[in-house]
Amino acid sequence: MVAASQILDRVLVLEMVRVTEAAAIAASKMIGRGDEKAADAAAVEAMREALNELYMDGTVVIGEGERDEAPMLYIGEKVGAAQGKGPKIDIALDPLEGTTITAKAGPNALAVLAIAEEGNLLNAPDVYMEKLAVGPGYPAGIIDLDKSATENIEAVAAAKGVKPADVIACVLDRPRHEKLIAELRAIGCGIMLIPDGDVAGVIATTDPDTTIDIYMGSGGAPEGVLAAAALRCVGGQFKGRLLFRNDDEKSRARGWGIEDLNRIYDLNDLAKGDVIFAATGVTDGSLLDGVKRLKGNRMTTESVVMRASSGTVRWVKGEHRTH
Ligand code: FBP
Repeated sequence: MVAASQILDRVLVLEMVRVTEAAAIAASKMIGRGDEKAADAAAVEAMREALNELYMDGTVVIGEGERDEAPMLYIGEKVGAAQGKGPKIDIALDPLEGTTITAKAGPNALAVLAIAEEGNLLNAPDVYMEKLAVGPGYPAGIIDLDKSATENIEAVAAAKGVKPADVIACVLDRPRHEKLIAELRAIGCGIMLIPDGDVAGVIATTDPDTTIDIYMGSGGAPEGVLAAAALRCVGGQFKGRLLFRNDDEKSRARGWGIEDLNRIYDLNDLAKGDVIFAATGVTDGSLLDGVKRLKGNRMTTESVVMRASSGTVRWVKGEHRTH
């Protein structure tokens, strides 16, 4: 019998790319069409179909929502062609990370997926998460959610040997970040404000070409798990703390088995063991090029698939025939 970890390596690594490619291609037909729901639905349907072809006993642990709110790829949905006999795999997915971006033809929309052996991905409720992330190469513990934004920037600046004003932070452009942005402006820090897409924003800290040093601010908790899965593979540090807007969100989290609502999650608390992360660009972005339609009946995709246990990062360019 082949261990599930070997299956992850041998069979599923490259298969993951087929799944994210399928979702990205489907969503790409809706780029700039102003219809977020239709773009998302196309990606969801294509991702689900591709997942159901894989030899695995898969369970969606982070998906489109709970069963009553999501007809497909809902949390708990079983996917894969080997139910009851294949390797038991947990799946965190976002068939279209950046629905608004896609509708408006903006940058950084992705089709994203992370898989791990059963029990290794945090079943994060769909609430906000306060996030802090830096790329690889910094001393352990350099970022701290209990410290102020200024203190975190100062720590990164000191480690880089630059002034705080030379640090660049990536932040989601949201009214809730007004205070954070004002604090960063006061120290003269550079801020890359992104309209959406904090999975790409967090991963951008790992790529010097983006010039982003640190990711700060709150976004979706499910997206936090996906971003953490990527950082587990390429290196970097991530801290996350769930944010609850009301008692209902708190009681839902408790229902999901989260006891300490103030807990600060580290990379390994969010995605542990051997994790595989895959993404395909829908629109052009800092991580990946988007889907391109060529003359004739061809189109191209760009994807990345990475694995935590080996640290391997594979960039995959696909050329596909359109129908
Ligand atoms: P969607 O693809 O679901 O629209 O998510 C986009 C996104 O920007 C995420 O990247 C981010 O985590 C979340 O939305 C932020 O939520 P909000 O738009 O409520 O601030």
